[in-house]
Amino acid sequence: MSQSDILVIGSTGKTGRRVVRALRERGASVRAAGRSTDVRFDWDDDSTWAPALTGAHAAYIVDRQDKPGVWDAESQIRDLAKRAVDCGVRRLVLLQARTTGLVGGKDLSAGEGGVRDSGAQWTVLRPNWFFQNFDEGVLLDAVRAGELRLPAGDGREPFVDAEDVAEVAAAALLDDGHDGRVYDLSGSRALTLAEVAEEISRAAGRPVAYVPVDHEEYVAELVSYEVPADYARFVADLVAQIRDNLNAEPTGTVEGVLGRPPRDFAAFARQAAADGAWAL
Ligand SMILES: NC(=O)c1ccc[n+]([C@@H]2O[C@H](COP(=O)([O-])OP(=O)(O)OC[C@H]3O[C@@H](n4cnc5c(N)ncnc54)[C@H](OP(=O)(O)O)[C@@H]3O)[C@@H](O)[C@H]2O)c1
Repeated sequence: MSQSDILVIGSTGKTGRRVVRALRERGASVRAAGRSTDVRFDWDDDSTWAPALTGAHAAYIVDRQDKPGVWDAESQIRDLAKRAVDCGVRRLVLLQARTTGLVGGKDLSAGEGGVRDSGAQWTVLRPNWFFQNFDEGVLLDAVRAGELRLPAGDGREPFVDAEDVAEVAAAALLDDGHDGRVYDLSGSRALTLAEVAEEISRAAGRPVAYVPVDHEEYVAELVSYEVPADYARFVADLVAQIRDNLNAEPTGTVEGVLGRPPRDFAAFARQAAADGAWAL
């Protein structure tokens, strides 16, 4: 596979940004796409798709979950994959999530069929929850406020570093041997939220508490912060996957692909603290 012209959708996001960097470090020519980048790509405006895809040999696809009521991943990813192949793209790497059963009534792996059936080489990445939810994502404000209120009980999750996910994505985009593979990507340790809070407290040098809350109470709290009700329920159902230990087994796939163990949460937390992520 030529190391040129790789389209990265979601290039401003937690994995996409790192995929762009990992590809460039390996000498690839990258089109970093998004709604606000020079290469425009908007899931809601399919007139942006062909211009972004044309001339690319491979594409990293990040879908979105911000509108669970209206987002139809199955048909959108199928349409995009077909359009990609029509535009000459020969390799597709699709980011999904490691989940079990339905989440908020939806099968979050429904988009996978679109890349499998596309005729391109394909790889699907299904990571556990990212470390980066705590230092740049949805849980950052809670960490800064010193209280992680979540309906996760004492369930365990083998959180994974988005850096590791991005390196696996870069390998799947650039190297042979990943066609037709579904990679469940986890960190090496399954942690409870209480253990996460302890690690962050130690690294940040101030207390961060985990406060387990009831599922419905959590939905109501999010709605009180003006989160749309369907999205609040979707997020609560995602957290319930942790509470119920549905994806709690570490997988070893990061090491299998990269030839080194995944980064540990404690090392991540030390670095995030040193970078000032949790400074007040
Ligand atoms: N967060 C986790 O712990 C986690 C774990 C496993 C899997 N995942 C998967 O990762 C994916 C991304 O989730 P994330 O929370 O990590 O978000 P993220 O990648 O940090 O941010 C979302 C990205 O999607 C782009 N985007 C949003 N709406 C778009 C639209 N209409 N058209 C084009 N691009 C759009 C955003 O770009 P612009 O706003 O710049 O356009 C941004 O780059 C999801 O599919 C999720 O299932 C996440």
